[in-house]
Amino acid sequence: MKKLLLITLLAIFCSTSFSQTSKSPLMGWASWNQFGANINESIIKGQADAISSSGLAAAGYRYLNIDDGFFNGRNTDGSLKTDSIKFPNGMKFLVDYIHSKGLKAGFYSEAGANTCGSQYSGQPGGVNSGMYMHDQQDADLFFKSWGFDFLKVDYCGGLVQKLDEKTRYAAIKKAIDNTGRTDINFNACRWQFPGTWVTTVADSWRMSNDINFSPGSKAEWKSIIGIIDMNKYLAPYASRGHYNDMDMLEVGRGLTAEEDKSHLSMWCILSSPLVLGNDLTNMSAETKEIITNAEVIAVNQDTTSLQGHLISDNGAGLQVWAKPLNGKQSKERTVVLFNRSEAPASMSVKWKELNLVGPATVRNLWSHSDLGGMDSIYTTTVPSHGVAMLKVVGKQTKLQEVFEAEYAWINNFNLTQYGEVLSGQGRVIADAKCSGHAKAAWLGNRDDNYIEFRDVYANMTGNYKLTITYISAGIQSATLTVNGTDTLLQGLNSKALTPANKTIPIKLNKGYNTIRLSNATDWLPDIDKIQIEFNK
Ligand code: GLA
Repeated sequence: MKKLLLITLLAIFCSTSFSQTSKSPLMGWASWNQFGANINESIIKGQADAISSSGLAAAGYRYLNIDDGFFNGRNTDGSLKTDSIKFPNGMKFLVDYIHSKGLKAGFYSEAGANTCGSQYSGQPGGVNSGMYMHDQQDADLFFKSWGFDFLKVDYCGGLVQKLDEKTRYAAIKKAIDNTGRTDINFNACRWQFPGTWVTTVADSWRMSNDINFSPGSKAEWKSIIGIIDMNKYLAPYASRGHYNDMDMLEVGRGLTAEEDKSHLSMWCILSSPLVLGNDLTNMSAETKEIITNAEVIAVNQDTTSLQGHLISDNGAGLQVWAKPLNGKQSKERTVVLFNRSEAPASMSVKWKELNLVGPATVRNLWSHSDLGGMDSIYTTTVPSHGVAMLKVVGKQTKLQEVFEAEYAWINNFNLTQYGEVLSGQGRVIADAKCSGHAKAAWLGNRDDNYIEFRDVYANMTGNYKLTITYISAGIQSATLTVNGTDTLLQGLNSKALTPANKTIPIKLNKGYNTIRLSNATDWLPDIDKIQIEFNK
């Protein structure tokens, strides 16, 4: 009897700790890309059946998300009504059905009063069906009464009403928390990076406009490329459990097989949620093989949660992306050689670009083949619109010495409408004179508009030389803060619009250090990068 109790307690403990630590990017399916607002109970049940019987759930796709198309206004007591013709048995029935398949159930709403569907997809039932003025009532209904596990909250009505997105999403998050459910996955669908505040409010946030501008139509390659470009410098804002959402996948919906593989590879190396958008009841063997590639999915689900960085770009469509696996200081890297050009191309990655020293082994994650050991570089031919996705395992690492400003945390970075940034807010801008052809600009002039390098790893406590590469507009100053200790740097003057260096002795701790540059009362120089002499 005692043994039974122990086993039961152990089982409860294990399942609880799993749900609390299972914070890799969400994987599942959502109805929007394939069906638009034309959803109903039998479509959702059919997809739930397919995701569990096809092996997709076993591959990790566990959320079945109902998107827009079910709203039907509100009752006089304010409670939400759903379309009883499309969903004759109601939502609780459907959630129970989805749960009975061992899946999680996802739902959809709006931060303003009127839904996107009511504005763009002929869904009059979406008028006054958004959460605005109904946060707690709706959250209780979705999570306590109906039992949903995920919520995507859109912003079409919010935009029309000119609501403040931070206030709205924080209020909805609070309403979710008030339900007592601690396992709800919350997606803020503001179609752009809405500000660093979102990284603690939501589990994921849509950082781009819709992947396809016409739901139900064929996938567009150029829209996929556009989203990747927009996500390039959002890497510092992703962390364990909190991800840049690049939108639902278009794999199996009209792209070529090479393009489908590139699309999935990039969503994986950039740690986006993986939410399938194709009809699971009618997919080709090739599509299924692509979306169930366990080695590629493992890159997305890797517990380090680092979003990959662009490490080289020839400016003509040949890009190399990399992401550490199994720990920030590990010897394992995923590399994607991405050929966006219109012709096949020879592409390479050098181990030194990955901070690996000496020989390394290479495995191709799409052909599932070990390519053996290479001394310092791997070169292969990559098809047009295709990728070579590799796992590179080195023997030794070199500490990262150069930290590009475009990959640092810009505390007040806050896109407002469609890529427009408020004045006085730090942002990344292109500058051909800077390394990586980009720099952080519009920094300073208020205390929260600082830049922070958060991952400066030293393997010994000690004194090091820090070099800041900057471009100033005349003579400027900055406060350098290393692990909380301030030093005032005066007389920063690059004299011309070419980068200048300032070298300062600093003390670093063993492990991770945070280096901040700020100026509460005046503009900071633009920052190209910082460098620390670790490997001397
Ligand atoms: C917005 C979202 C889409 C989808 C539709 C539904 O456009 O970005 O993902 O949810 O609304 O109307």
